[in-house]
Amino acid sequence: MHKVVWDMDPGIDDALALILALKSPEVQVLGITTVAGNASVEMTSANARRVLEYLNAGSIPVAMGAANPLNHPLEDALNHHGPDGLGNCDLPPPKVPLHPDKAWDFLARLVWDAPGEVALIATGPLTNVAYAFRRNPKLPELMARLVLMGGAYRLTPYGEGNRTLYAEFNIWQDPEAAHMVFNSGADIFAVGLDVTMDPAACLTSEHLGQIKTGHTPAAHLVAQLVEYQVKHHGCCRMHDPLALAMLLDVSLLDFKLARVEVVKGNDWNRGVTRILPSVGSHSIHVACAVDGPRFLELFLSRMLEK
Ligand code: RIB
Ligand code: CA
Repeated sequence: MHKVVWDMDPGIDDALALILALKSPEVQVLGITTVAGNASVEMTSANARRVLEYLNAGSIPVAMGAANPLNHPLEDALNHHGPDGLGNCDLPPPKVPLHPDKAWDFLARLVWDAPGEVALIATGPLTNVAYAFRRNPKLPELMARLVLMGGAYRLTPYGEGNRTLYAEFNIWQDPEAAHMVFNSGADIFAVGLDVTMDPAACLTSEHLGQIKTGHTPAAHLVAQLVEYQVKHHGCCRMHDPLALAMLLDVSLLDFKLARVEVVKGNDWNRGVTRILPSVGSHSIHVACAVDGPRFLELFLSRMLEK
Protein backbone atom coordinates (compact mmCIF):
# COMPACT_ATOMS: atom_id res chain seq x y z
CA MET A 1 0.00 0.00 0.00
CA HIS A 2 1.46 3.37 -1.06
CA LYS A 3 0.37 6.31 1.11
CA VAL A 4 0.26 9.35 -1.18
CA VAL A 5 -0.32 13.07 -1.10
CA TRP A 6 -1.23 14.33 -4.57
CA ASP A 7 -0.67 17.75 -6.13
CA MET A 8 -2.85 18.15 -9.21
CA ASP A 9 -4.51 20.56 -11.66
CA PRO A 10 -7.77 18.77 -12.66
CA GLY A 11 -8.09 18.73 -15.74
CA ILE A 12 -9.60 15.65 -17.37
CA ASP A 13 -6.56 13.38 -17.14
CA ASP A 14 -5.89 14.36 -13.50
CA ALA A 15 -9.51 13.39 -12.78
CA LEU A 16 -9.12 10.05 -14.59
CA ALA A 17 -5.98 9.36 -12.54
CA LEU A 18 -7.77 10.24 -9.29
CA ILE A 19 -10.69 7.93 -10.15
CA LEU A 20 -8.20 5.15 -10.92
CA ALA A 21 -6.50 5.73 -7.56
CA LEU A 22 -9.83 5.59 -5.70
CA LYS A 23 -10.51 2.22 -7.38
CA SER A 24 -7.03 0.82 -6.61
CA PRO A 25 -6.11 -0.98 -3.36
CA GLU A 26 -2.42 -0.30 -3.98
CA VAL A 27 -2.68 3.37 -3.03
CA GLN A 28 -4.21 5.35 -0.15
CA VAL A 29 -4.77 9.04 -0.92
CA LEU A 30 -4.10 10.91 2.35
CA GLY A 31 -4.76 14.33 0.85
CA ILE A 32 -4.90 16.42 -2.30
CA THR A 33 -3.38 19.80 -3.05
CA THR A 34 -4.35 21.87 -6.05
CA VAL A 35 -2.37 24.18 -8.30
CA ALA A 36 -3.11 26.48 -11.24
CA GLY A 37 -2.29 24.81 -14.53
CA ASN A 38 -4.97 23.35 -16.79
CA ALA A 39 -7.31 25.86 -15.13
CA SER A 40 -7.29 28.54 -12.43
CA VAL A 41 -6.49 27.28 -8.94
CA GLU A 42 -10.06 28.08 -7.91
CA MET A 43 -11.35 25.81 -10.69
CA THR A 44 -8.83 23.01 -10.08
CA SER A 45 -9.71 23.16 -6.34
CA ALA A 46 -13.42 22.89 -7.11
CA ASN A 47 -12.87 20.10 -9.64
CA ALA A 48 -10.85 17.94 -7.26
CA ARG A 49 -13.69 18.16 -4.70
CA ARG A 50 -16.39 17.62 -7.37
CA VAL A 51 -14.79 14.29 -8.34
CA LEU A 52 -14.15 13.20 -4.74
CA GLU A 53 -17.67 14.00 -3.57
CA TYR A 54 -19.27 12.29 -6.58
CA LEU A 55 -17.40 9.10 -5.68
CA ASN A 56 -18.20 9.37 -1.95
CA ALA A 57 -14.59 10.25 -1.12
CA GLY A 58 -15.33 13.78 0.07
CA SER A 59 -13.57 13.02 3.38
CA ILE A 60 -10.19 13.26 1.60
CA PRO A 61 -8.99 16.82 2.38
CA VAL A 62 -8.21 19.26 -0.44
CA ALA A 63 -5.88 22.23 0.18
CA MET A 64 -5.58 25.05 -2.34
CA GLY A 65 -2.18 26.23 -3.61
CA ALA A 66 -0.59 28.66 -6.01
CA ALA A 67 -2.65 30.80 -8.37
CA ASN A 68 0.29 31.50 -10.68
CA PRO A 69 3.66 30.01 -11.61
CA LEU A 70 6.69 31.42 -9.76
CA ASN A 71 7.83 33.81 -12.49
CA HIS A 72 5.21 33.74 -15.24
CA PRO A 73 1.52 34.54 -15.67
CA LEU A 74 -0.76 31.48 -15.86
CA GLU A 75 -1.65 30.21 -19.34
CA ASP A 76 -4.42 27.63 -18.84
CA ALA A 77 -5.44 24.73 -21.09
CA LEU A 78 -9.23 25.06 -20.96
CA ASN A 79 -9.18 24.85 -24.76
CA HIS A 80 -8.19 21.21 -24.20
CA HIS A 81 -10.21 20.32 -21.10
CA GLY A 82 -13.44 22.27 -21.70
CA PRO A 83 -14.82 25.45 -20.08
CA ASP A 84 -15.21 23.78 -16.64
CA GLY A 85 -11.88 21.95 -16.89
CA LEU A 86 -13.69 18.58 -16.73
CA GLY A 87 -15.17 18.19 -20.20
CA ASN A 88 -18.39 19.95 -19.19
CA CYS A 89 -19.40 16.87 -17.19
CA ASP A 90 -22.56 17.10 -15.11
CA LEU A 91 -20.90 16.95 -11.68
CA PRO A 92 -22.52 19.28 -9.11
CA PRO A 93 -20.44 22.04 -7.49
CA PRO A 94 -18.50 20.98 -4.38
CA LYS A 95 -20.14 21.05 -0.93
CA VAL A 96 -17.13 20.23 1.28
CA PRO A 97 -15.02 23.29 2.15
CA LEU A 98 -11.30 23.46 1.36
CA HIS A 99 -8.79 22.47 4.04
CA PRO A 100 -7.68 25.72 5.76
CA ASP A 101 -3.93 25.16 5.17
CA LYS A 102 -2.09 26.39 2.11
CA ALA A 103 -1.15 23.48 -0.19
CA TRP A 104 2.59 23.68 0.50
CA ASP A 105 2.09 23.60 4.29
CA PHE A 106 -0.51 20.82 4.02
CA LEU A 107 1.61 18.49 1.91
CA ALA A 108 4.71 19.20 4.01
CA ARG A 109 2.86 18.26 7.20
CA LEU A 110 1.65 14.94 5.78
CA VAL A 111 5.23 14.03 4.82
CA TRP A 112 6.76 15.26 8.12
CA ASP A 113 4.22 13.25 10.14
CA ALA A 114 5.38 9.97 8.55
CA PRO A 115 9.05 10.25 7.48
CA GLY A 116 9.89 7.92 4.60
CA GLU A 117 6.33 6.60 4.35
CA VAL A 118 4.47 9.09 2.16
CA ALA A 119 4.97 9.43 -1.61
CA LEU A 120 4.17 12.70 -3.38
CA ILE A 121 2.46 12.50 -6.76
CA ALA A 122 2.55 15.67 -8.85
CA THR A 123 0.48 15.81 -12.03
CA GLY A 124 0.41 19.57 -12.56
CA PRO A 125 2.95 22.39 -12.71
CA LEU A 126 5.45 22.06 -9.82
CA THR A 127 4.77 25.45 -8.21
CA ASN A 128 3.36 24.10 -4.92
CA VAL A 129 6.11 21.50 -4.65
CA ALA A 130 8.76 24.18 -5.11
CA TYR A 131 7.17 26.33 -2.38
CA ALA A 132 7.04 23.32 -0.05
CA PHE A 133 10.72 22.50 -0.67
CA ARG A 134 11.77 26.15 -0.21
CA ARG A 135 10.03 26.28 3.18
CA ASN A 136 11.16 22.80 4.26
CA PRO A 137 14.64 22.05 2.82
CA LYS A 138 14.65 18.56 4.34
CA LEU A 139 11.31 17.59 2.75
CA PRO A 140 12.78 15.99 -0.42
CA GLU A 141 14.67 13.39 1.62
CA LEU A 142 11.73 12.75 3.96
CA MET A 143 9.30 11.65 1.22
CA ALA A 144 9.25 8.05 0.05
CA ARG A 145 9.51 9.25 -3.56
CA LEU A 146 8.21 11.93 -5.91
CA VAL A 147 6.31 10.60 -8.93
CA LEU A 148 5.59 13.34 -11.42
CA MET A 149 3.96 13.69 -14.81
CA GLY A 150 6.13 16.08 -16.75
CA GLY A 151 8.78 16.62 -19.37
CA ALA A 152 9.64 15.46 -22.88
CA TYR A 153 13.02 13.70 -22.94
CA ARG A 154 13.31 12.43 -26.51
CA LEU A 155 13.79 8.87 -25.34
CA THR A 156 11.14 7.60 -27.79
CA PRO A 157 9.64 9.00 -31.03
CA TYR A 158 6.84 10.48 -28.86
CA GLY A 159 9.09 12.54 -26.62
CA GLU A 160 8.49 15.92 -28.29
CA GLY A 161 6.72 18.90 -26.74
CA ASN A 162 2.97 19.45 -26.46
CA ARG A 163 2.88 23.09 -25.21
CA THR A 164 5.61 24.13 -27.63
CA LEU A 165 7.43 21.96 -30.15
CA TYR A 166 10.04 21.31 -27.47
CA ALA A 167 8.42 21.50 -24.00
CA GLU A 168 5.73 19.62 -22.10
CA PHE A 169 2.88 21.66 -20.54
CA ASN A 170 3.51 21.11 -16.79
CA ILE A 171 7.22 21.92 -17.03
CA TRP A 172 6.68 24.77 -19.52
CA GLN A 173 4.07 26.37 -17.25
CA ASP A 174 6.55 26.73 -14.36
CA PRO A 175 10.12 25.96 -15.47
CA GLU A 176 11.70 27.71 -12.46
CA ALA A 177 9.73 25.48 -10.09
CA ALA A 178 10.63 22.39 -12.12
CA HIS A 179 14.31 23.35 -12.18
CA MET A 180 14.32 23.63 -8.39
CA VAL A 181 12.40 20.38 -7.84
CA PHE A 182 14.51 18.38 -10.31
CA ASN A 183 17.63 19.48 -8.38
CA SER A 184 16.15 18.99 -4.90
CA GLY A 185 17.62 15.56 -4.24
CA ALA A 186 14.17 13.94 -4.00
CA ASP A 187 13.92 10.39 -5.39
CA ILE A 188 12.11 11.45 -8.57
CA PHE A 189 10.30 9.23 -11.08
CA ALA A 190 9.43 11.45 -14.07
CA VAL A 191 6.76 10.16 -16.48
CA GLY A 192 6.94 12.28 -19.61
CA LEU A 193 5.45 12.53 -23.08
CA ASP A 194 7.94 9.90 -24.28
CA VAL A 195 5.55 7.28 -22.87
CA THR A 196 2.25 9.17 -22.39
CA MET A 197 2.03 10.10 -26.09
CA ASP A 198 2.55 6.47 -27.14
CA PRO A 199 -0.60 5.64 -29.18
CA ALA A 200 -0.67 2.20 -27.51
CA ALA A 201 -1.31 3.94 -24.17
CA CYS A 202 -4.19 6.18 -25.31
CA LEU A 203 -7.91 5.46 -24.99
CA THR A 204 -9.80 5.32 -28.31
CA SER A 205 -13.46 5.35 -29.27
CA GLU A 206 -13.42 1.54 -29.03
CA HIS A 207 -12.29 1.76 -25.40
CA LEU A 208 -15.01 4.38 -24.82
CA GLY A 209 -17.57 1.85 -26.05
CA GLN A 210 -16.34 -0.62 -23.42
CA ILE A 211 -16.45 2.01 -20.66
CA LYS A 212 -20.05 2.84 -21.57
CA THR A 213 -21.05 -0.72 -20.68
CA GLY A 214 -20.25 0.10 -17.05
CA HIS A 215 -23.09 1.18 -14.74
CA THR A 216 -21.22 2.42 -11.67
CA PRO A 217 -20.86 6.14 -10.86
CA ALA A 218 -17.14 5.86 -11.66
CA ALA A 219 -17.80 4.30 -15.07
CA HIS A 220 -20.43 6.96 -15.82
CA LEU A 221 -18.05 9.81 -14.97
CA VAL A 222 -15.09 8.26 -16.81
CA ALA A 223 -17.27 7.80 -19.91
CA GLN A 224 -18.14 11.51 -19.87
CA LEU A 225 -14.53 12.61 -19.40
CA VAL A 226 -13.14 10.26 -22.06
CA GLU A 227 -15.97 11.08 -24.51
CA TYR A 228 -15.09 14.78 -24.34
CA GLN A 229 -11.48 14.05 -25.26
CA VAL A 230 -12.35 11.52 -28.00
CA LYS A 231 -14.90 13.90 -29.55
CA HIS A 232 -12.64 16.99 -29.46
CA HIS A 233 -9.19 15.46 -29.84
CA GLY A 234 -9.71 12.05 -31.47
CA CYS A 235 -8.45 10.07 -28.46
CA CYS A 236 -7.92 10.43 -24.71
CA ARG A 237 -4.28 10.70 -23.71
CA MET A 238 -3.57 9.22 -20.28
CA HIS A 239 -0.72 11.48 -19.10
CA ASP A 240 -1.60 11.56 -15.40
CA PRO A 241 -3.01 8.01 -15.04
CA LEU A 242 0.35 6.75 -16.38
CA ALA A 243 2.20 8.61 -13.62
CA LEU A 244 -0.01 6.87 -11.05
CA ALA A 245 0.37 3.53 -12.85
CA MET A 246 3.92 2.98 -11.61
CA LEU A 247 2.55 2.82 -8.05
CA LEU A 248 -0.06 0.26 -9.14
CA ASP A 249 2.26 -2.04 -11.12
CA VAL A 250 5.91 -1.04 -11.41
CA SER A 251 6.37 -3.48 -14.34
CA LEU A 252 4.18 -1.30 -16.58
CA LEU A 253 6.95 1.28 -17.10
CA ASP A 254 10.70 1.17 -17.63
CA PHE A 255 12.91 3.96 -16.31
CA LYS A 256 16.46 5.11 -16.94
CA LEU A 257 18.61 7.09 -14.50
CA ALA A 258 19.66 10.46 -15.90
CA ARG A 259 20.58 14.01 -15.00
CA VAL A 260 18.10 16.40 -16.53
CA GLU A 261 18.54 20.08 -17.36
CA VAL A 262 15.35 22.18 -17.17
CA VAL A 263 15.51 25.40 -19.20
CA LYS A 264 14.12 28.38 -17.26
CA GLY A 265 13.03 31.79 -18.56
CA ASN A 266 10.74 32.62 -21.46
CA ASP A 267 12.70 32.05 -24.64
CA TRP A 268 11.90 29.54 -27.42
CA ASN A 269 13.41 26.77 -25.26
CA ARG A 270 11.40 27.55 -22.09
CA GLY A 271 10.57 24.33 -20.22
CA VAL A 272 12.83 22.08 -22.30
CA THR A 273 13.91 19.00 -20.32
CA ARG A 274 17.24 17.86 -21.70
CA ILE A 275 18.99 14.66 -20.60
CA LEU A 276 22.66 15.43 -19.82
CA PRO A 277 25.39 13.02 -20.97
CA SER A 278 26.61 11.96 -17.54
CA VAL A 279 24.77 10.43 -14.59
CA GLY A 280 25.71 12.19 -11.36
CA SER A 281 24.28 14.00 -8.35
CA HIS A 282 20.57 14.79 -8.59
CA SER A 283 20.00 12.14 -11.25
CA ILE A 284 16.35 11.21 -11.63
CA HIS A 285 14.46 8.19 -13.01
CA VAL A 286 12.96 9.03 -16.41
CA ALA A 287 10.32 6.78 -17.99
CA CYS A 288 11.63 5.36 -21.27
CA ALA A 289 9.06 2.65 -22.13
CA VAL A 290 5.49 1.64 -21.32
CA ASP A 291 3.41 -1.50 -21.80
CA GLY A 292 0.47 0.43 -23.23
CA PRO A 293 -1.97 -2.44 -23.83
CA ARG A 294 -1.43 -3.86 -20.35
CA PHE A 295 -1.86 -0.40 -18.79
CA LEU A 296 -5.14 0.18 -20.65
CA GLU A 297 -6.32 -3.30 -19.65
CA LEU A 298 -5.64 -2.44 -16.00
CA PHE A 299 -7.44 0.91 -16.32
CA LEU A 300 -10.51 -0.55 -18.03
CA SER A 301 -10.77 -3.48 -15.61
CA ARG A 302 -10.67 -1.14 -12.60
CA MET A 303 -13.23 1.23 -14.18
CA LEU A 304 -15.63 -1.61 -14.98
CA GLU A 305 -15.42 -3.26 -11.58
CA LYS A 306 -18.82 -3.39 -9.89
O1 RIB B 1 1.30 17.66 -20.60
C1 RIB B 1 0.26 16.97 -19.97
C2 RIB B 1 0.09 17.43 -18.55
O2 RIB B 1 -0.30 18.81 -18.51
C3 RIB B 1 -1.02 16.68 -17.81
O3 RIB B 1 -0.72 16.60 -16.45
C4 RIB B 1 -2.22 17.55 -18.05
O4 RIB B 1 -3.22 17.36 -17.05
C5 RIB B 1 -1.61 18.92 -17.92
O5 RIB B 1 -1.49 19.22 -16.53
CA1 CA C 1 -2.39 17.47 -14.87
